[in-house]
Amino acid sequence: METNTHPTILYINNVMYHLDLLPWVSLLDVLREEIHLTGTKKGCDHGQCGACTIIVDGKRILSCLTLGVMKNGSEITTIEGIANGDDLHPLQKAFIEHDAFQCGYCTPGQICSAVGLLNEGKAKSREEVQELMSGNLCRCGANRGIINAIMEVKEGGRHE
Ligand code: FES
Ligand code: FES
Repeated sequence: METNTHPTILYINNVMYHLDLLPWVSLLDVLREEIHLTGTKKGCDHGQCGACTIIVDGKRILSCLTLGVMKNGSEITTIEGIANGDDLHPLQKAFIEHDAFQCGYCTPGQICSAVGLLNEGKAKSREEVQELMSGNLCRCGANRGIINAIMEVKEGGRHE
């Protein structure tokens, strides 16, 4: 263990990890570099694009703006843990049905953010869904499909 590291326990996709983290390392880098879960993407690394969105204790957060040590003891879900085994999450199915991605780089963040949005239960209309998803950018212009997919799950009550 390096001198400046902090013992940290993270529960990621239902697996417990004992880590020794340097205090300045972002949760995004912990996931990608230490745990090798590379589904969570690094876009801007500055809180501007939403590509790094994950779910921590049921809430969506930007993992690039969060230090790993701050989340000691937290339950984390990344895109790798969204499906239930081979059974895709309803949002994953809806993204496929609605052609809600092209290059796919923003997609893990979009889906995690949408899970968080549905958990929040604040968005009532399509406009509100659009507004509350506005922190997740898609450079490919798949926004219409993304919102369509989220609306379908929201209205179908299929989120978990
Ligand atoms: S990588 Fe975190 S918001 Fe862009
Ligand atoms: S699908 Fe390419 S950035 Fe969104």
